Amino acid sequence: MSSTPLLQVDAIDASIGVINILHGVSLSVSSGELVTVIGANGAGKTTLLRVISNLLKPSVGLVQFDGAPTTAVEAHRLARRGLIHVPQGRQIVPTLSVLDNLIIGAERSEIVDSETLVENLEREYSRFPVLRERKDLAAGSLSGGEQQMLAVSRALMMRPKLLMLDEPSLGLAPQIVKTILNALRQLADEGLAVLLVEQVAMAALSVADNAHVLRNGEIALSGTASELRRDKALVESYLG
Ligand SMILES: Nc1ncnc2c1ncn2[C@@H]1O[C@H](COP(=O)(O)OP(=O)(O)OP(=O)(O)O)[C@@H](O)[C@H]1O
Ligand SMILES: [Mg+2]
Repeated sequence: MSSTPLLQVDAIDASIGVINILHGVSLSVSSGELVTVIGANGAGKTTLLRVISNLLKPSVGLVQFDGAPTTAVEAHRLARRGLIHVPQGRQIVPTLSVLDNLIIGAERSEIVDSETLVENLEREYSRFPVLRERKDLAAGSLSGGEQQMLAVSRALMMRPKLLMLDEPSLGLAPQIVKTILNALRQLADEGLAVLLVEQVAMAALSVADNAHVLRNGEIALSGTASELRRDKALVESYLG
Protein backbone atom coordinates (compact mmCIF):
# COMPACT_ATOMS: atom_id res chain seq x y z
CA MET A 1 0.00 0.00 0.00
CA SER A 2 1.47 3.38 -1.00
CA SER A 3 1.56 6.22 1.50
CA THR A 4 0.22 8.92 -0.85
CA PRO A 5 -3.34 8.14 -1.91
CA LEU A 6 -3.77 7.26 -5.58
CA LEU A 7 -6.89 9.40 -5.69
CA GLN A 8 -7.33 12.58 -3.70
CA VAL A 9 -10.54 14.59 -3.90
CA ASP A 10 -10.16 17.89 -2.13
CA ALA A 11 -13.10 20.12 -1.15
CA ILE A 12 -15.02 19.75 -4.40
CA ASP A 13 -18.03 21.86 -5.33
CA ALA A 14 -19.77 20.96 -8.58
CA SER A 15 -22.76 22.45 -10.35
CA ILE A 16 -25.04 21.35 -13.13
CA GLY A 17 -26.40 24.48 -14.78
CA VAL A 18 -27.11 26.89 -11.99
CA ILE A 19 -27.72 24.21 -9.39
CA ASN A 20 -24.91 23.42 -6.98
CA ILE A 21 -24.92 19.63 -6.59
CA LEU A 22 -21.76 18.83 -4.59
CA HIS A 23 -20.57 20.88 -1.62
CA GLY A 24 -17.08 20.55 -0.20
CA VAL A 25 -16.62 16.85 -0.89
CA SER A 26 -13.26 15.37 0.12
CA LEU A 27 -12.09 11.78 0.08
CA SER A 28 -9.10 9.67 -0.84
CA VAL A 29 -8.46 6.16 -2.10
CA SER A 30 -5.13 4.34 -1.86
CA SER A 31 -3.92 1.30 -3.75
CA GLY A 32 -5.18 -1.82 -2.02
CA GLU A 33 -8.08 0.05 -0.47
CA LEU A 34 -11.82 -0.25 -1.11
CA VAL A 35 -13.68 2.95 -0.30
CA THR A 36 -17.44 3.20 -0.55
CA VAL A 37 -19.64 6.26 -0.94
CA ILE A 38 -23.17 5.50 0.15
CA GLY A 39 -26.11 7.72 -0.63
CA ALA A 40 -29.80 7.78 -1.51
CA ASN A 41 -31.22 8.61 -4.94
CA GLY A 42 -30.14 12.09 -5.96
CA ALA A 43 -27.48 12.43 -3.25
CA GLY A 44 -24.85 13.26 -5.89
CA LYS A 45 -23.01 9.93 -6.24
CA THR A 46 -22.96 9.84 -10.04
CA THR A 47 -22.06 13.52 -10.16
CA LEU A 48 -19.08 12.82 -7.88
CA LEU A 49 -17.79 10.04 -10.15
CA ARG A 50 -18.29 12.28 -13.20
CA VAL A 51 -16.16 14.95 -11.55
CA ILE A 52 -13.41 12.44 -10.72
CA SER A 53 -13.44 11.18 -14.33
CA ASN A 54 -13.27 14.77 -15.54
CA LEU A 55 -16.58 14.50 -17.38
CA LEU A 56 -17.73 17.45 -15.28
CA LYS A 57 -15.43 20.23 -14.08
CA PRO A 58 -15.65 21.11 -10.40
CA SER A 59 -16.42 24.78 -9.72
CA VAL A 60 -14.20 24.68 -6.63
CA GLY A 61 -11.64 22.18 -5.36
CA LEU A 62 -9.09 19.79 -6.77
CA VAL A 63 -8.97 16.17 -7.89
CA GLN A 64 -5.57 14.49 -8.06
CA PHE A 65 -4.96 11.08 -9.57
CA ASP A 66 -1.58 9.38 -9.38
CA GLY A 67 0.10 12.59 -8.28
CA ALA A 68 -1.33 14.96 -10.91
CA PRO A 69 -4.45 17.14 -11.12
CA THR A 70 -7.08 15.56 -13.38
CA THR A 71 -8.67 18.75 -14.61
CA ALA A 72 -6.13 19.23 -17.40
CA VAL A 73 -6.47 15.65 -18.63
CA GLU A 74 -9.29 14.51 -20.92
CA ALA A 75 -11.44 11.63 -19.64
CA HIS A 76 -10.19 9.09 -22.20
CA ARG A 77 -6.58 9.94 -21.34
CA LEU A 78 -7.32 9.42 -17.65
CA ALA A 79 -8.55 5.95 -18.60
CA ARG A 80 -5.24 5.22 -20.33
CA ARG A 81 -3.50 6.26 -17.13
CA GLY A 82 -5.51 3.75 -15.17
CA LEU A 83 -8.58 5.60 -13.94
CA ILE A 84 -11.48 3.41 -15.07
CA HIS A 85 -15.13 4.21 -14.46
CA VAL A 86 -17.88 1.60 -14.74
CA PRO A 87 -20.89 3.86 -15.21
CA GLN A 88 -24.36 3.40 -13.79
CA GLY A 89 -26.26 1.16 -16.24
CA ARG A 90 -23.11 -0.75 -17.28
CA GLN A 91 -22.87 0.41 -20.90
CA ILE A 92 -21.67 -2.82 -22.42
CA VAL A 93 -22.33 -3.26 -26.16
CA PRO A 94 -25.47 -5.46 -26.27
CA THR A 95 -25.14 -6.58 -29.89
CA LEU A 96 -21.55 -7.73 -29.54
CA SER A 97 -20.58 -11.05 -27.98
CA VAL A 98 -19.27 -11.30 -24.43
CA LEU A 99 -15.82 -12.03 -25.85
CA ASP A 100 -15.89 -9.01 -28.15
CA ASN A 101 -16.92 -6.77 -25.27
CA LEU A 102 -13.89 -8.01 -23.34
CA ILE A 103 -11.63 -7.50 -26.35
CA ILE A 104 -12.81 -3.89 -26.63
CA GLY A 105 -11.58 -3.40 -23.08
CA ALA A 106 -8.22 -4.91 -23.98
CA GLU A 107 -7.91 -2.69 -27.04
CA ARG A 108 -8.56 0.40 -24.95
CA SER A 109 -5.65 -0.52 -22.75
CA GLU A 110 -3.53 -1.25 -25.81
CA ILE A 111 -3.00 -4.91 -25.02
CA VAL A 112 -1.66 -5.95 -28.39
CA ASP A 113 0.04 -9.32 -28.20
CA SER A 114 -2.25 -12.31 -28.24
CA GLU A 115 -0.50 -14.03 -25.34
CA THR A 116 -1.27 -11.13 -22.98
CA LEU A 117 -4.80 -10.96 -24.31
CA VAL A 118 -5.38 -14.65 -23.62
CA GLU A 119 -3.89 -14.34 -20.13
CA ASN A 120 -6.21 -11.44 -19.36
CA LEU A 121 -9.25 -13.25 -20.74
CA GLU A 122 -8.41 -16.37 -18.72
CA ARG A 123 -8.09 -14.27 -15.58
CA GLU A 124 -11.57 -12.79 -16.13
CA TYR A 125 -13.10 -16.16 -17.04
CA SER A 126 -11.82 -17.61 -13.79
CA ARG A 127 -13.11 -14.61 -11.85
CA PHE A 128 -16.60 -14.99 -13.36
CA PRO A 129 -16.89 -18.50 -14.88
CA VAL A 130 -20.32 -17.69 -16.33
CA LEU A 131 -18.61 -15.33 -18.79
CA ARG A 132 -16.63 -18.22 -20.25
CA GLU A 133 -19.81 -20.25 -20.64
CA ARG A 134 -21.51 -17.32 -22.39
CA LYS A 135 -18.53 -15.95 -24.29
CA ASP A 136 -20.06 -16.31 -27.76
CA LEU A 137 -23.50 -15.00 -26.86
CA ALA A 138 -24.63 -11.43 -27.45
CA ALA A 139 -23.97 -9.43 -24.29
CA GLY A 140 -27.53 -8.10 -24.43
CA SER A 141 -28.89 -11.62 -23.93
CA LEU A 142 -27.20 -12.01 -20.54
CA SER A 143 -29.04 -11.56 -17.26
CA GLY A 144 -28.58 -8.28 -15.40
CA GLY A 145 -26.09 -9.87 -13.00
CA GLU A 146 -24.09 -11.42 -15.83
CA GLN A 147 -24.02 -8.08 -17.64
CA GLN A 148 -22.68 -6.41 -14.50
CA MET A 149 -19.96 -9.07 -14.21
CA LEU A 150 -19.12 -8.41 -17.86
CA ALA A 151 -18.94 -4.67 -17.19
CA VAL A 152 -16.52 -5.28 -14.31
CA SER A 153 -14.41 -7.70 -16.34
CA ARG A 154 -14.31 -5.38 -19.32
CA ALA A 155 -13.10 -2.60 -17.04
CA LEU A 156 -10.40 -4.92 -15.65
CA MET A 157 -9.25 -5.70 -19.20
CA MET A 158 -8.32 -1.99 -19.30
CA ARG A 159 -5.76 -2.62 -16.55
CA PRO A 160 -6.97 -0.03 -14.05
CA LYS A 161 -5.05 1.35 -11.10
CA LEU A 162 -8.30 2.81 -9.77
CA LEU A 163 -11.63 1.17 -10.51
CA MET A 164 -14.75 3.27 -9.86
CA LEU A 165 -18.16 1.62 -9.94
CA ASP A 166 -21.48 3.40 -9.99
CA GLU A 167 -24.09 1.25 -8.19
CA PRO A 168 -23.11 -2.16 -9.56
CA SER A 169 -25.82 -3.74 -7.37
CA LEU A 170 -28.67 -1.87 -9.06
CA GLY A 171 -31.57 -4.21 -9.79
CA LEU A 172 -29.66 -7.38 -8.86
CA ALA A 173 -30.54 -10.20 -6.47
CA PRO A 174 -28.65 -10.18 -3.13
CA GLN A 175 -26.69 -13.33 -3.99
CA ILE A 176 -25.33 -11.79 -7.21
CA VAL A 177 -24.58 -8.52 -5.43
CA LYS A 178 -22.52 -10.56 -2.97
CA THR A 179 -20.59 -12.26 -5.79
CA ILE A 180 -19.75 -8.93 -7.38
CA LEU A 181 -18.85 -7.15 -4.14
CA ASN A 182 -16.66 -10.09 -3.06
CA ALA A 183 -14.83 -9.85 -6.38
CA LEU A 184 -14.20 -6.15 -5.68
CA ARG A 185 -12.88 -6.98 -2.21
CA GLN A 186 -10.50 -9.51 -3.73
CA LEU A 187 -9.29 -6.95 -6.28
CA ALA A 188 -8.51 -4.49 -3.50
CA ASP A 189 -6.66 -7.24 -1.61
CA GLU A 190 -4.58 -7.77 -4.76
CA GLY A 191 -3.60 -4.08 -4.70
CA LEU A 192 -6.19 -2.28 -6.80
CA ALA A 193 -7.74 0.97 -5.55
CA VAL A 194 -11.54 0.64 -5.65
CA LEU A 195 -14.14 3.39 -5.25
CA LEU A 196 -17.60 1.89 -4.93
CA VAL A 197 -20.70 4.08 -5.05
CA GLU A 198 -23.74 2.32 -3.61
CA GLN A 199 -27.20 2.60 -2.16
CA VAL A 200 -27.18 -0.82 -0.51
CA ALA A 201 -25.34 0.42 2.55
CA MET A 202 -24.78 -2.72 4.58
CA ALA A 203 -23.64 -4.82 1.62
CA ALA A 204 -21.14 -2.14 0.59
CA LEU A 205 -19.92 -1.69 4.16
CA SER A 206 -19.37 -5.43 4.51
CA VAL A 207 -16.59 -5.34 1.88
CA ALA A 208 -15.21 -1.79 2.25
CA ASP A 209 -12.26 -0.51 4.28
CA ASN A 210 -13.48 3.07 4.60
CA ALA A 211 -16.81 4.70 3.92
CA HIS A 212 -18.54 8.03 3.42
CA VAL A 213 -22.24 8.79 3.53
CA LEU A 214 -23.30 11.40 0.99
CA ARG A 215 -26.48 13.36 1.63
CA ASN A 216 -27.68 16.28 -0.50
CA GLY A 217 -24.24 16.60 -2.07
CA GLU A 218 -22.39 16.73 1.23
CA ILE A 219 -20.45 14.12 3.15
CA ALA A 220 -22.56 13.71 6.26
CA LEU A 221 -20.60 10.90 7.88
CA SER A 222 -17.25 9.19 7.36
CA GLY A 223 -15.40 6.39 9.09
CA THR A 224 -14.03 2.94 8.75
CA ALA A 225 -16.54 0.54 7.27
CA SER A 226 -16.67 -1.44 10.52
CA GLU A 227 -17.44 1.71 12.55
CA LEU A 228 -20.30 2.59 10.21
CA ARG A 229 -21.58 -0.98 10.24
CA ARG A 230 -21.91 -0.76 14.00
CA ASP A 231 -23.94 2.43 13.55
CA LYS A 232 -26.46 0.95 11.16
CA ALA A 233 -29.37 3.08 12.43
CA LEU A 234 -27.40 6.31 12.00
CA VAL A 235 -26.24 5.37 8.50
CA GLU A 236 -29.78 4.48 7.49
CA SER A 237 -31.15 7.72 8.93
CA TYR A 238 -29.00 9.58 6.37
CA LEU A 239 -30.30 7.46 3.53
CA GLY A 240 -33.88 8.53 4.16
N1 LIG B 1 -28.22 16.73 -16.13
C1 LIG B 1 -28.76 17.18 -15.01
N2 LIG B 1 -29.50 18.31 -15.00
C2 LIG B 1 -30.05 18.79 -13.85
N3 LIG B 1 -29.92 18.20 -12.66
C3 LIG B 1 -29.22 17.08 -12.61
C4 LIG B 1 -28.61 16.49 -13.78
N4 LIG B 1 -27.96 15.37 -13.40
C5 LIG B 1 -28.17 15.25 -12.07
N5 LIG B 1 -28.92 16.27 -11.60
C6 LIG B 1 -29.34 16.47 -10.20
O1 LIG B 1 -28.21 16.35 -9.38
C7 LIG B 1 -28.51 15.69 -8.16
C8 LIG B 1 -27.55 14.54 -7.96
O2 LIG B 1 -27.71 13.62 -9.02
P1 LIG B 1 -26.84 12.31 -9.14
O3 LIG B 1 -27.21 11.66 -10.41
O4 LIG B 1 -25.41 12.65 -8.93
O5 LIG B 1 -27.36 11.48 -7.89
P2 LIG B 1 -27.10 9.96 -7.51
O6 LIG B 1 -26.69 9.94 -6.10
O7 LIG B 1 -26.20 9.32 -8.49
O8 LIG B 1 -28.57 9.34 -7.62
P3 LIG B 1 -29.05 7.87 -8.09
O9 LIG B 1 -28.87 6.97 -6.91
O10 LIG B 1 -30.50 8.05 -8.41
O11 LIG B 1 -28.23 7.46 -9.27
C9 LIG B 1 -29.97 15.29 -8.28
O12 LIG B 1 -30.73 16.22 -7.57
C10 LIG B 1 -30.25 15.36 -9.75
O13 LIG B 1 -31.60 15.68 -9.98
MG1 LIG C 1 -26.40 7.78 -9.79
